[in-house]
Amino acid sequence: MNTFQSLEIDGPHGPVPVRVYEPAGPAGAVLVWAHGGGFRHGDLDMAEAEMVSAELSRRADAVVVSVGYRLAVGGVRYPVPIDDVHAVWTWVTGRDDLPARRALGGASAGAALAVSTVLRVPDNQPDLLLLAYPFAHFPTPTLGHGRTLENIEDMVRNYVGRISDLPADALPGAARLDGLPPVHILLSEFDDLRPSGELLERQLREVGVPVEVFLAPGTTHGHLNRPHDVPDAVDASLGFLAAALRAPRPAPRWLRRAGEPRIEFGADYNPEQWPREVWADDVRAMREAGVTIVSLGIFSWARLEPAERRYDFAWMDEVVDLLHDNGILVDLATPTASPPPWLTTKHPEILPVDRDGRTVWPGARQHWRPTSPVFREHALRLVRVLARRYADHPALAAWHVSNELGCHNVYDYSDDAARAFRVWLRARYTNLETLNAAWGTDFWSQRYGEWEQILPPRHANGPVNPTQQLDFKRFSSDALKDHYLAERRILREITPDVPVTTNFMVAGPINEMNYPDWAAEVDFVANDHYTRPGPQSRDELSFSANLCGNLIAGRPWFLMEHSTSAVNWQPVNVPKLPGELARDSLTHVAHGADGVCFFQWRQSRAGAEKFHSAMLPHAGTTSAIFEAVTDLGARLRSLSFLQSIGRTPSRVAVVIDYESWWAAEQDSHPSDRLRYRDEALDWYTALLDLGVRADVIPVAADLTGYRLVVAPILHLVPAALKQRLEDYVAGGGHLVTTYFSGIVDENDHAWPGGYPGALRDLLGVHVEEFAPLLDGESVTLTNGAIGTLWSERLAVTDPATKVVAGYATGGAAVTRREVGGGSAAYVSSRLGPQGLSLILDDLLALAGVGSELPPDLRGRVELAVRGPVRFLINRTAEPVDLSSLPDAPPSLPARGVVVLGV
Ligand code: GAL
Repeated sequence: MNTFQSLEIDGPHGPVPVRVYEPAGPAGAVLVWAHGGGFRHGDLDMAEAEMVSAELSRRADAVVVSVGYRLAVGGVRYPVPIDDVHAVWTWVTGRDDLPARRALGGASAGAALAVSTVLRVPDNQPDLLLLAYPFAHFPTPTLGHGRTLENIEDMVRNYVGRISDLPADALPGAARLDGLPPVHILLSEFDDLRPSGELLERQLREVGVPVEVFLAPGTTHGHLNRPHDVPDAVDASLGFLAAALRAPRPAPRWLRRAGEPRIEFGADYNPEQWPREVWADDVRAMREAGVTIVSLGIFSWARLEPAERRYDFAWMDEVVDLLHDNGILVDLATPTASPPPWLTTKHPEILPVDRDGRTVWPGARQHWRPTSPVFREHALRLVRVLARRYADHPALAAWHVSNELGCHNVYDYSDDAARAFRVWLRARYTNLETLNAAWGTDFWSQRYGEWEQILPPRHANGPVNPTQQLDFKRFSSDALKDHYLAERRILREITPDVPVTTNFMVAGPINEMNYPDWAAEVDFVANDHYTRPGPQSRDELSFSANLCGNLIAGRPWFLMEHSTSAVNWQPVNVPKLPGELARDSLTHVAHGADGVCFFQWRQSRAGAEKFHSAMLPHAGTTSAIFEAVTDLGARLRSLSFLQSIGRTPSRVAVVIDYESWWAAEQDSHPSDRLRYRDEALDWYTALLDLGVRADVIPVAADLTGYRLVVAPILHLVPAALKQRLEDYVAGGGHLVTTYFSGIVDENDHAWPGGYPGALRDLLGVHVEEFAPLLDGESVTLTNGAIGTLWSERLAVTDPATKVVAGYATGGAAVTRREVGGGSAAYVSSRLGPQGLSLILDDLLALAGVGSELPPDLRGRVELAVRGPVRFLINRTAEPVDLSSLPDAPPSLPARGVVVLGV
């Protein structure tokens, strides 16, 4: 039995009965709540009042004041119910013994009353509104089956006395909604009034009110009144409301663990692939290697839920206990990356569809549509059950949501994706006119007259509208992020003190997920990195590790996966050379990683990854790999003091912009050979060759601390970015950019007036036509650099612009415009690391940045600084003599790392 206190509050029509529900502990918020019932029915005993209030109070640590407002019966009409809720709101907000965080909310007609009340109190607004399946409009937008217009008319006539000329605040969707506080809307899936809630959502977004929506799957209108019929859905709905209501706590930023600082060390652990007898051996060897944490259960859905709603946690309980008993933390995965056969058999509609309309069948993993409501429902149910089960387990240190979201299912062209894409587009463009303008649909007769006509960029007989393609990339990144957020909402609700993350793939050419945009949503950045063979393989690792540390500036991050040796997914899978395992791991640490984990702990005997290396290989604990792993564990222990000390920033930055990356590599361009990341990496390599430390930063990062900013192929430049770059240079900063930069705005429309578009004036140059080079063609520059891929006929348009290097055949190739103390330089061809070093030498001198390494070490050694220590990483396959550094050992072994200052 829930306890509450019954009170009567004075109102303009006499006393208003309320029930006040108090949480067991200190309250962080207060909610005034109005039940539903069409303004005519309902009371304080109904589940929607009683159960909801008690549960929200308990789950959100909130005082909930449930209002027994006067019903529209016996001559009572609008606005009496609003007057009553208003009176209670005034009473609550006048008390200073109640928490400062205040919310108003209600269900159905009660939701309308909550909004109507807020409209009356512009100077006494709540912090948020909680609306369950709101009945907010008349006439209602469209009705699902079940309820007739007469029903609705009757309800409204009963409430207001008429159905025409309604006061705007009676059904408040008709009122001015700007200025409302953030609104959280709960919708029932099969609700004849759902269109009213959805219209309200669109109206609020249109006027800039933040809205969060949760769709309770499988429910009908008023489902909070039926906790016994749809317990899971009611549970989830209450969870949504409670999470919004609960006073925000500072998110945990690192593992939930006590004890001394340390660098975490471990792997993905997949005990479900092994008989139970092996588990004890595993844990013994983990201790020997110095493992501190494992990511558990990533692909265990079929084991944890072998049939729908039939759960088997016994084995996982045993593993988690075993790990805990051995002092090993658990980074527990929500096992939603790979749906089990029972789910895909029952619901093949969750399977993704590719661009050509082919179903992506099960057989591998990640065969699910990010936008499938059916998948979402099943995944979230399991997440909730899992989170409840392990919430208080002392081994639980972090949540690992799904696995590499988007690794295999980022682009889905299904009907679910089409529907969700339209919703996303409506939020971005509000109306079709704006969308038609942004997409340039007058080209090739693509003008849209209805939202329903819009599709994902499915297989077509020629290049698909470029803005449609770009928006689909934006949408697809957002759709996966949305899935992450849906899981996180549940995890935060049940375990607010456990950090939530998901493993990114900042590595090589992977660019589909806009991680700078995702980073704000993870409690700490986690990354998976695998090297790919090639001359810049090692530099690429450093580049990616560096970016990870700048996704959330100044915070430690976690290397969630890399490999001890060969992978299995390259055409030819070459093992690592001696020293490489430690060098790769320590390079991540040098760039701020506070955790070093591998895929995986024990090499699989079966399955597609049986030839992928692991910490414990097929060869067992006597192997060279296990020895190298154990040595690394010891080395990391010696660096424990580094935990939470961020990498020391440099004065040079290479800017990464995922939107430019997407836009620059679209089809129908001057050259399909252009590779954004290759150009960016070349600059990073050139800086390493010169012995200069550089940061790799997202384009939105603060530039002001950098003396030199390199922005390669900054193709997509909205007006605000143009301004930021101009301000940076005007403030004395030195900017250098390259071919195909500044060309388009956020809609992928060319900036008019010639190239480099938005950056033309800043750079003081003008290009009429691009002159990309054919395969095998090259151009020579007057400074000796060789250009490939691209060239331009570049005209200098400003007297302050100097030609730094020309094309040997004539015309400027590299320019620099001096602006006050700053400058803006332009490189019009692909020069590769060697050619770029020639340019950078001068630019660095101008920016007043030099190498921190003695001349004999520059290029052969990478330097990274982390607080009190300096990492020296051998970039070569030879030992490097360190005698020019007084505090260093005599030599840096081939592929070795030395840490100075320990
Ligand atoms: C990652 C994935 C792991 C494993 C690994 C192999 O992409 O998260 O589960 O497959 O690759 O390199």
